[in-house]
Amino acid sequence: MTRQTMWIALIGTLMISAAFSIALARESDRQADAAAELQAAMVTEGTDLYAVNCVACHGASGEGIAAYPPLTAVVGMDERTIFNTVERGRYNTAMAAFGVEEGGTLTAMQIESLVAMLRADTWDTVATRVAELDLTPPKIVVAEIPAETLAMVQVLPNGDVLAEGLTIYAENCAACHGANGEGSTLAPALNTDELRMRLSDADIARIIQEGVPGTLMASWTSALDVNQQQAVVALISGWGELNTIGVNLPVIETAPLDTSPEATAKGQQLFNLLCTQCHGIDGYGSAIAPALNNQTFLNQTPDAAIQQIIAGGVTGTNMPAWGGYLTDADIAAITAYLRSLAPTAPIVAPAQP
Ligand code: HEC
Ligand code: HEC
Ligand code: HEC
Repeated sequence: MTRQTMWIALIGTLMISAAFSIALARESDRQADAAAELQAAMVTEGTDLYAVNCVACHGASGEGIAAYPPLTAVVGMDERTIFNTVERGRYNTAMAAFGVEEGGTLTAMQIESLVAMLRADTWDTVATRVAELDLTPPKIVVAEIPAETLAMVQVLPNGDVLAEGLTIYAENCAACHGANGEGSTLAPALNTDELRMRLSDADIARIIQEGVPGTLMASWTSALDVNQQQAVVALISGWGELNTIGVNLPVIETAPLDTSPEATAKGQQLFNLLCTQCHGIDGYGSAIAPALNNQTFLNQTPDAAIQQIIAGGVTGTNMPAWGGYLTDADIAAITAYLRSLAPTAPIVAPAQP
């Protein structure tokens, strides 16, 4: 080979390899673009799936609702664990198995999209989309603690723990157990001598941890950490002292119900569509669910309580949580419809076959 042909061969090789690496770079750009596009499409699909299937419990911004945990820390969890949790559920908790193979409604591809969305950490976008779809769940009723009341509690022995307990209680428990633990039609009183004599701290802690299956009392282990649970236990077993110093939180006010004919008609339509299959035509009850159309139930259950049950369901029974499917206004409309039955309702529910 002459020097000249050697040079030509060498330059030729260099040129080919340069062209090749440019093409390669372009190709990997194309692949990266395609991957980013696919990823974005999955996050978008996952957002809509989340809005329809998950907001009722985990909230529009993944903040968690009542006893149901936030998902904002899931971003750091590995993909497989998230996938398995959604596909198979968590045994013995309200986290159901969503995978079609496990009796749920979501395909593996759809669950992949949910995982992509949970790991993308785009909760602001999720909340906006949920609002667009009109699926923002109703707000949980919370009690207000005036600053001077909190200061009164803080000076007691163990006051910091009691004040933390009261704060957690006001946010999570007051909707059912009453602003001052006085109880409601939904749940028993927690501020009585009788309870403090019957239940030790360990008993109270166990009830908070395990809940009471088949009732509205959920397990709080995934929503409250151990210190928070202990603070509420201290509050319940120390409620006597709070009563002694005169701690009294304002009664929880709820907005008055719209009982216009339009709201009532809309409520009736929703009830016929979603509720009669279990609660019977006109709410007269069936073998699977109790009558709602009777004086006893309607007189004893305030509007806020009815709305809370419809939104949150009853864990451990067939009563679903409708909070993620129905808006506040829908749930209020159904409540207005149930109220409209009162004048003609039987005193007690007729016996079911
Ligand atoms: C009926 C209420 C409910 C619904 C609806 C629900 N979850 Fe859950 N989810 C829970 C509960 C309760 C837990 C905690 C389970 C436990 O104690 O391990 C949980 C846990 C999780 C966890 C694990 C969190 C962690 O920190 O370990 C993920 C992930 C999750 N849910 C995703 C979803 C997704 C996605 C959907 C919708 C497809 C969904 N959930 C729907 C109640 C619900
Ligand atoms: C959605 C309604 C609801 C919420 C919210 C709720 N509870 Fe309950 N709770 C109940 C019901 C209903 C019972 C009675 C269960 C039964 O029939 O044994 C109960 C029972 C209890 C008991 C046992 C009372 C007794 O006399 O045996 C304790 C203690 C308790 N709840 C603490 C709490 C705490 C603490 C919170 C907040 C972290 C809370 N609950 C939130 C509905 C609720
Ligand atoms: C799949 C069956 C099913 C469907 C659908 C259903 N429920 Fe229920 N519901 C039940 C069961 C079962 C209970 C009793 C739970 C218990 O044991 O505490 C119940 C309880 C209730 C209660 C409390 C009754 C009481 O006496 O304390 C209300 C209110 C209620 N449901 C309203 C509704 C509304 C409104 C709808 C439609 C949006 C609906 N339910 C749809 C099964 C269902």
